[in-house]
Amino acid sequence: MKVLNFGSLNLDYVYRVKEFVQPGETLAVLSQEVLAGGKGLNQSVALARAGAEVYHAGLYGKGGELLKQTLTDSGVHTEYLLSSEELQGNAVIQVNDKGENCILLYGGSNQCITEQQIEETLSHFSAGDYLVLQNEINHLPLIVDKAYAIGMKIVLNPSPFNEKLNDVDFGKLSWIFVNEIEAKQLSGFDDADAAYAAIHRRYPDLSVLITLGKAGSVAYTNGERCVQPIFDVKVVDTTAAGDTFTGYFIASVMQQLPLSDAMKRATAASSIGVSRKGASPSIPTSQEVTEFLNNR
Ligand code: RIB
Repeated sequence: MKVLNFGSLNLDYVYRVKEFVQPGETLAVLSQEVLAGGKGLNQSVALARAGAEVYHAGLYGKGGELLKQTLTDSGVHTEYLLSSEELQGNAVIQVNDKGENCILLYGGSNQCITEQQIEETLSHFSAGDYLVLQNEINHLPLIVDKAYAIGMKIVLNPSPFNEKLNDVDFGKLSWIFVNEIEAKQLSGFDDADAAYAAIHRRYPDLSVLITLGKAGSVAYTNGERCVQPIFDVKVVDTTAAGDTFTGYFIASVMQQLPLSDAMKRATAASSIGVSRKGASPSIPTSQEVTEFLNNR
């Protein structure tokens, strides 16, 4: 069983600040780095470090060679990752003293995927293979429809949450990964159980994972409900915490770990990630996750 991640790649321009810049203010930053990121790339790296056989499809643009190299170095297959003449998609990220971030996203090459690339890529996958998606590339509804027709298991992290998602048929998905805010946007409810109940009424076959910030996360699948608290670590940078969780969780599900173990490994991986700087550079290896859990 293989996993295809049709997803974004971004150059992350990361600026460390004491506090986020305010309207009308000009702020000198403490430091600046350019790192490999993008929700798609981060999730592929997490999947690979968690031990999954992962293929990343998408488009990198001018100036984005570092991103392809990062995937290759992490053991991700890149034969379905094509290059584009467009400017590389990128993100401007402020990280404050509390490790919180705010992100501006420029789609660039990530928004130039063609129907032909979708057809060609999906022809290499079959029923039972996993497809991982986020909302940072174009043609999401088409990819979902075509992958569903093949019989792939489709996992969507609908982030950033916006009106483009209205055209995606959530009834064709196997899993969604959302935070509390996105769960409310989807269901109208603040409370996770109420949000899930509303989502379940509309899409009875959809499994749902909701991250709850400091309260941990909760998963609902096949009549099972599982809650996982966070691990207490010193937070340095929360960028890609959700991506790390997503990649580790999917890999664990593919490895047929029990739901509670999958959530524990995913939580441990993202806890290690937030204690380090950057998006993809912060994602731990499977061995680091095992050692972390053994020392708890
Ligand atoms: O989830 C974190 C990611 O969001 C960053 O790496 C940035 O590129 C944006 O896509």
